[in-house]
Amino acid sequence: MATRVLFVCLGNICRSPTAEAVFAHHAEAQGKPVVAESAGTSDWHVGDPPYVPAIRAAKARGYGMGHLRGRQFTAADFAAFDLIIAMDARNLARIEAIRPEGSATPVRLFLEAAGLEAGEVPDPYYTRDFEGALSLIERAALGLLDRMED
Ligand code: 4NP
Repeated sequence: MATRVLFVCLGNICRSPTAEAVFAHHAEAQGKPVVAESAGTSDWHVGDPPYVPAIRAAKARGYGMGHLRGRQFTAADFAAFDLIIAMDARNLARIEAIRPEGSATPVRLFLEAAGLEAGEVPDPYYTRDFEGALSLIERAALGLLDRMED
């Protein structure tokens, strides 16, 4: 059975759609059955494509994400996914704040779940470092895949 993974950030136009595209790309290359999606804890970019600089950075490394559209994280996602991955502590808290009673779905910080250094994926919407964010997301996506059972 495919493992269903949901990547979550604030706007769902920079970090989480990048993580979705990178993770799905490498999962397919490795033959690992996953379903990857992404969402934002805000409703600011519902229906929007990812941010153009994030699309460009990803495209330059062979990842297509221009077709993705923003959506907001909801309580129903706890049942729809096996694993919820937050880009930072603020969004992890916003996810946990709407956890339905009785749900045991794990919610983890991306870097920690990947076995990398503790910490957060810095938001390139503010840092403007789209290359750096993409490099970190690539390392984390590969680390998370390594830790998933075949
Ligand atoms: P993301 O970055 O959470 O990585 O998608 C952001 C994108 C947009 C905004 C904030 C963060 N915004 O304020 O519109």
